[in-house]
Amino acid sequence: MKRVKKAIIPAAGLGTRFLPATKAMPKEMLPIIDRPTIDYIVEEAKRSGIEDIIIVTGKGKRAIEDHFDKNIELEDNLIKKGKHALLEKIQPSSNVEIHYIRQKEPRGLGNAVWCARKFIGDEPFAVLLGDDIVRAETPGIKQLIMQFEKLDSSIIGVQEIPIEETERYGIVESDKKQGRLHSVKKLVEKPKMEAAPSTLAIMGRYVLTPAIFDLLENQVPGAGGEIQLTDAINRLNELEQVYAYQLEGNRYDVGDKMGFLRTTVDFALENSEFSGQVEQMLRELLEKYHSREVVR
Ligand code: UTP
Repeated sequence: MKRVKKAIIPAAGLGTRFLPATKAMPKEMLPIIDRPTIDYIVEEAKRSGIEDIIIVTGKGKRAIEDHFDKNIELEDNLIKKGKHALLEKIQPSSNVEIHYIRQKEPRGLGNAVWCARKFIGDEPFAVLLGDDIVRAETPGIKQLIMQFEKLDSSIIGVQEIPIEETERYGIVESDKKQGRLHSVKKLVEKPKMEAAPSTLAIMGRYVLTPAIFDLLENQVPGAGGEIQLTDAINRLNELEQVYAYQLEGNRYDVGDKMGFLRTTVDFALENSEFSGQVEQMLRELLEKYHSREVVR
């Protein structure tokens, strides 16, 4: 069995849910406190033993490359000022290589993954989407890699969601279940609550076999006129069994505004740098907000 050593981070989407912020700035660079969201994703891949990452970028995404590159001027400046803690934070990581490829047009997640086919070659690989941050003792993608090592089959990360939210996610119809592991019968893209086969939502974590690339090559556009990864995985499931694994840990949906705000507040509450100040600030803001309501 081949080891999972490479990961794809698709980051070529338009980020329309965050416009106008994402008109000139990549959605992946929006910060949770002081770290761009994509930093958390790269960190997860690194902690999971991934050695090479390819980020699929597109128009207007240069800031991502700059972020992971060395910035000699800034480093010199911080050294001169003796700001060594900050220096450590901005230096590129040495134990993972980051590569880039451009998706010519945003034709969908499936097409973005296909763009990285030559880099991946004939190996199983991981896919991590920046829309989800996973905080867990064992990093999210590592949990899937560990399952892959037992099953030698493609595997998708899922988590239970409230039934009212099925329309926002890809949903898994499961055949058989053993603990956290499900064999997939079918994936359904954003079904209405009444039509949802389960409440197991696909999170942005996958380990896939390279057989997916041939399927993506001739995948017809699906929902939203885009080439959908879920459509190709459904076809892959006809050729080889695909599994879903209920990931352990907390998942933060940073792909939409409300989720992003919630994540920011949650991370701020836990951040020792602020030691209790955030709680105090939230209390004050709520008091102010409620007294305003009464005045109205
Ligand atoms: P999303 O559906 O979240 O799209 O894509 P988006 O464009 O980033 O955001 P909205 O919905 O317009 O606000 C899921 C992931 O797939 C990538 C995105 O960058 C994101 O990580 N993606 C999507 C691509 O790389 N290329 C595409 O053509 C579409």
